[in-house]
Parts: sequence; structure tokens; C-alpha cells
Amino acid sequence: MPFIPFLSLNHQHRSVERDLKECLAKTLKRGNFILGEEVARFEKEFATYHKAKYCVSVGNGHDALLISLKAFNIGKGDEVIVPSHTCHATWLAVLNAGAKPLPVEVDASTYTIDPSKIESAISKKTKAIIPVHLYGQPCAMDQINAIAKSNQLFVVEDNAQAHGAIFKNKLTGSWGHCNATSFYPTKNLGALGDGGAIITNDKKLYQFANSFRNYGSLKKDVHAIPGMNSRLDELQASVLRIKLRKLNQWNEARKRNANLYFKHLKEVKEIQLPPQENKITKPVFHQFVIQTPHRAKLKNFLAKKGIETVIHYPTPVHLQKAYSHLRYKKGDLPVAESLASSVLSLPIWPGLKKEDIEQVCFAINSFF
Ligand SMILES: Cc1ncc(COP(=O)(O)O)c(C=O)c1O
Repeated sequence: MPFIPFLSLNHQHRSVERDLKECLAKTLKRGNFILGEEVARFEKEFATYHKAKYCVSVGNGHDALLISLKAFNIGKGDEVIVPSHTCHATWLAVLNAGAKPLPVEVDASTYTIDPSKIESAISKKTKAIIPVHLYGQPCAMDQINAIAKSNQLFVVEDNAQAHGAIFKNKLTGSWGHCNATSFYPTKNLGALGDGGAIITNDKKLYQFANSFRNYGSLKKDVHAIPGMNSRLDELQASVLRIKLRKLNQWNEARKRNANLYFKHLKEVKEIQLPPQENKITKPVFHQFVIQTPHRAKLKNFLAKKGIETVIHYPTPVHLQKAYSHLRYKKGDLPVAESLASSVLSLPIWPGLKKEDIEQVCFAINSFF
């Protein structure tokens, strides 16, 4: 039986190889590698994709979150609401802004922050909420924005895992005051290295981020604020421009694969499947994450059958050593802890064939 890797980027790169080589050659010839025309064009195109006014590209997703928080002057003494179950970079950006991450449990069936638990977590110190569209599953942005409005909080969406996802006819990454994203190579829209972006409709936020990412400077040798160096480079911008044109097509392939999983795994009682597309939410399946109490044995069994799987994420963020100063202990966030012990990501990348998914489903069915 053929080996099925958890992820391969070769398929997507093959389909745009000629364009990639051409754009790399052009950038090389032009000889301008930082904040040139490719960056400007990509920012315009990515903003347009989200029907937003402004985009500022940055060095990575962590910095996109950090700069967004800085734009709201969030720092020492402030708290920022984050989901209990997420990539730890979401929490880290809050820490690096000097503020305290305040975790709110996710809904175990959607993997996203549970809006019904947000309000009781808010205190005088709370300044913002970071909803994370984890695994490509959109958060309930209407409820989150309503809570934020009535409590005068900023919303910074973390859309690193959900490029192209839709909630109530509007793209994720276009609901918040600021929207941060990552172009880490494995993302639905990924660069050939690190990259990130901030999207907003607010001109002042745009101007702040634009300057902050470039040593606090908009004009050579003039530094109005003490910023940082976090710039997307010309090569990555030119690659992202090419890949952006393919994003919807690649997302459709992910959805096709997801639908095959739903079809062939729906009878397996021992696993919980992720939410399917419906009239309100249209996920883009950055990951296809199932839950099962038999995870370790299933993962081993699949590995023996030549099927690679990954756990996102095996240790809840609040129990990572780096966050020990926040003094959380086992049992404090039971939903996050239960997910950390039961989630398993199946291969979902766009180049997988129908037979590959059927092979995974056959193996899972035979295990149970
Ligand atoms: C949900 C989420 N937020 C933030 C990040 C941070 O992005 P980066 O690795 O580009 O800093 C990532 C990706 O790694 C992520 O998945």
C-alpha cells in the first residue's frame, strides 16, 4: 500500500513551479529585496481578497499578533482573552506584548473559543480578545464582536489557520479591529519561509503597523516610534502573490477531502468528527482533526499501515513550562486538557487523491 505522508507541499509547488521560478528570477534581477513593489502589490491583493482597506505584511504570524496588540497600546498590567486550546504562539504574542494571556475554554465540538464563557472572564484589566479560527474552523464572530463591543474590548482575530474560511458570508480575518495571520509554509496560504500579515479597515492602525514593522519608520532616517524589524521580504511576497491566486482552488480540494472523511467515517462511534460546512460556517480544513479516547493505539496502527498523522497539540499551553509563571495546574482547563489527550489530525492536504483518503478511512474502520 502506498505511503501517505501527513503533508506534502510538492504537489502545490509543482502546479506553480514555472511561475515561482520566473518570479524568483525577476526579483533577483530587480535587486530590491526589502519593502519593494512585490510587497506593496501583495498587500493590496491580500486586503482586496478580504474586502478590507489595508494590509501590512510582517515577518511572521507571531509578530502580526504582537504588532496588533501594540497598536492598541496593550502591555503591562493588561489582560487579553485567548482560547485555552490553540497554537501556543497566540499566547506568546500576548506575553511578548507585556500583557497576561487570560484563557477561556473552547467548545470541544468546534475547537474554537466558547462565546458563552467569555463574559465571565472579563475584568477591568481585560483589553482585548483573540479569537483563533483553529484548524480552519471559523469562530462565532458575531457573538464575539457583540461581547467585545458591549465591554469596550478590541478584537484581534488570529486567522493563521483559516485563510479563505467564511462565517456568515464574511471571510474570517475580516471581522476584528485587527486581523493577524501567518504564512508559515504549511498554512493554507504559505510562503517558502516565514511571513505574516495584519489586515484592518482602520487607517490609524494601518499607519501604526506599517511604521512599527520597519523600526518605527515611514521615512528614511526618521523614527517616530520605537518599533521593531518584522518585514515580509520581496521574494516571499512574490511567491505569496502567485499562491494567493490558487488559494480558493486548494481550499476546495481540502473540502473535497474532508467530505470523503465525513462520508466514510460517519458510522465509527468511537471517534468524534470536526464540524462540517453548513449555512453559517464554511471551514477550510487547515487540519482535519478527529477526537478519540484510543488515540495512541490508533496513531500507531495507522503508522504501521504507512499513514502519517500528527497531534495538534499534545500539551495544553497552560501546562507548558514557558507559562509556569501564570501558575496554572492540571485540572484548571479541563476542555483543553481533554482535547490535548484525544485529538488526532489526519492527512488533508490538497494533493491527496480520493483513493488516499479511502485508504485512511479503510484503515480507521478496520482498527475500530
Ligand atoms: C493559530 C496560530 N497562531 C499564530 C501562529 C504563529 O505564526 P508564525 O509561526 O508565523 O509566527 C501560528 C502558526 O504557527 C498559528 O497556527
